Amino acid sequence: MAHWGDYQNLIYGAGLRGVLPRLPVDFAGLEARAAAAMPAQLLTYVRGGCGDEWTQDLNAAAFRHWGMVPRMMVDCSRRDTGLRLFGRDWPAPLFLAPIGVTGLATPDGHGDLHAARGAAEIGVPFCASTLGNDPLESVREACGRGPAMFQLYTPRNRALAESLIARAEAAGYDALVVTLDTWVTGWRPRDLNTGNFPQLRGHVLTNYFSDPVFRGLLPRPPEEDPAAAVVAWAGVFGQVLTWDDVAWLKGATRLPLVLKGICHPDDARRAADLGADAIYCSNHGGRQANGGIAAVDMLPGVVEGAGGLPVLFDGGVRSGTDAVKALALGATAVGLGRPWFYGLALEGAAGVAHVLRCVLAEMDLLMAVNGWPTLDAVRGAGAQRVLQG
Ligand code: FNR
Repeated sequence: MAHWGDYQNLIYGAGLRGVLPRLPVDFAGLEARAAAAMPAQLLTYVRGGCGDEWTQDLNAAAFRHWGMVPRMMVDCSRRDTGLRLFGRDWPAPLFLAPIGVTGLATPDGHGDLHAARGAAEIGVPFCASTLGNDPLESVREACGRGPAMFQLYTPRNRALAESLIARAEAAGYDALVVTLDTWVTGWRPRDLNTGNFPQLRGHVLTNYFSDPVFRGLLPRPPEEDPAAAVVAWAGVFGQVLTWDDVAWLKGATRLPLVLKGICHPDDARRAADLGADAIYCSNHGGRQANGGIAAVDMLPGVVEGAGGLPVLFDGGVRSGTDAVKALALGATAVGLGRPWFYGLALEGAAGVAHVLRCVLAEMDLLMAVNGWPTLDAVRGAGAQRVLQG
């Protein structure tokens, strides 16, 4: 039986022939390579967070104060990382978190397609952002037959929101992820200091420019007057959602509704009561609000509040070990963010596939060594708060 951990055998085997991995297998090495290779403004946008980035840094650092206890004498020669979510089989509890500037990550401007293909190569679901360089229909196609999610930034114009949702449904996405924390952009000093906001430069707006409802709002098509189309986009972006809107969202789609940005147990409870199909615990990687505690520290409370609903999680996951800790703390599936983006920027689809293989291999080998052959065993083992040395 093949396991994700077999990736290390390939690497060691190649090493015997003098062939080294093309990309580092660890996040620090990967980030350093990406930082040296990426265009400065894009790197600034991706690396940057809100305020002095206290929350963003905490997100990753907080994993260091959670630890796990191994069990011995358990037959872990076969591990099963599969799960069923949103009516589909997932080979592993991992997915690509939505990143809105993905299209810009590759020189051809089709980063969304390359990322989706890299994810499809491994079978890990891609969550496509509303902010893309390729239309959501083409991105879904690039995801192959496996599960995929569409992330919605809800426009102020309801007809446009419903059009995007209907397109996602028709394109074959398996879940609708509605991001709650980004009706306005957080204070991001790195981008402010460089005066750079990609959308206002006309980037990653293809889902709007290709949408019949959006086009109907314009006196002239975006191809003829792109500047006016950008202004129109800025006018419709960012509906403030309240709990009253959940009923509308539920009514607007047959897809499972996932609410992204839930951090408080009471919000998780309320989302569950109002009929959300899954909770997505995330603080947007610390890009939207500074001063918040780490996402992983909020996860146990959200899991409790969700009362048995699936809980997706992201924020600061940099390794397979981090992902296993999040699962042990109750996440149903874990979103990888910046790491996959750096792989994409360095090597396109192959870079994404490499990063996913590394994270999955580390997860799998950790489960093997720690006596956890299944995801239930990981959750049963749990994780404990530890004092930092
Ligand atoms: C994001 N994130 C995001 N989230 C979302 O719902 N829609 C989006 O379009 C984007 N865009 C985006 C761009 C960039 C450059 C980043 C880094 C992040 C947030 C993303 O889904 C996820 O919550 C964070 O990336 C998790 O933090 P880490 O693990 O990447 O630090």
